[in-house]
Amino acid sequence: MHTIGKGFVAIVTGGASGLGKAAADFLASQDATVFVVDLPKSFPNGNKDENNVHFRGADITSEEQITTLIQEIRTKYNRLDCVVNCAGICSCHVVFDTTTDKPHSMEDFMKYYQVNVFGTFNVIRLSVALMRDTQAQQDKKGPGVIITVSSVTMYDAPAEHVAYSSCKAAVAGMTVPLAREFSEFGIRVVDIAPGPMLTPMLLRDGTGFTARACLKSLIFPVRPGQPEEFADAVRFIVENPFINGTTIRLDGGYRNPMGSKYAYQETSSDNKN
Ligand SMILES: NC(=O)c1ccc[n+]([C@@H]2O[C@H](COP(=O)([O-])OP(=O)(O)OC[C@H]3O[C@@H](n4cnc5c(N)ncnc54)[C@H](O)[C@@H]3O)[C@@H](O)[C@H]2O)c1
Repeated sequence: MHTIGKGFVAIVTGGASGLGKAAADFLASQDATVFVVDLPKSFPNGNKDENNVHFRGADITSEEQITTLIQEIRTKYNRLDCVVNCAGICSCHVVFDTTTDKPHSMEDFMKYYQVNVFGTFNVIRLSVALMRDTQAQQDKKGPGVIITVSSVTMYDAPAEHVAYSSCKAAVAGMTVPLAREFSEFGIRVVDIAPGPMLTPMLLRDGTGFTARACLKSLIFPVRPGQPEEFADAVRFIVENPFINGTTIRLDGGYRNPMGSKYAYQETSSDNKN
């Protein structure tokens, strides 16, 4: 089994909030060196270092910013054991809005792919050389793992989730080819597909409806997942060397999304089939 402790170096994208923050907090609590990466606006006081945690404002879609980050990690630590890709954005639009007779904005659709798919891919492609060198120094016996975050909505989503759920299927679809390609470096690739988790993303619709509706889809326990439960899944994946090339559902048995065709139209949703 691998251990997370002093010397272990990780990047957590989207680490200023929700699932990423929980993962970063956990890794830091184990004395790992953690680079918490999020949009610069998430760190209004700029980049800062607190003991073993480095907060870095960067956009995961930027080649330049992520290259600078990786160069910094190489110079300071010459080691990278784990990348947890939590940065993401959620969308909810119908493809054709019958109230305005307008189709889904193409620009919006591409924006979700830009962050969720291209951004995740960008971080992975720019991290792998340092992870490969780290594994080479350890005779490929280090923890070396890339963790991506898809979503259970890729299996079964309400109608308005076409952009989001298809993005997440794309993220999950990277898992096996990446695991195959990186196997020669001793790097594993594992995807987590969370169900509804109690984070700002779940609560962002402002009405609480999404959170309430999600509960209809859970088998047990009938409550949103806790960010700490996500962090524990990260721990399990890092520590267990035999987990590779798979998507792990973390979802309380989520099925039949939100019990209705539409997630965001509370009054009409239960009347639609
Ligand atoms: N919360 C849920 O119910 C849930 C369920 C399934 C999957 N997920 C996925 O889990 C991941 C984390 O979600 P969360 O619930 O913690 O959301 P969150 O909104 O709390 O956190 C996401 C973080 O990503 C950051 N981010 C967004 N775009 C970025 C960019 N271009 N560059 C750098 N950082 C960026 C945001 O600033 C934010 O801090 C996301 O990929 C999300 O799609 C969440």
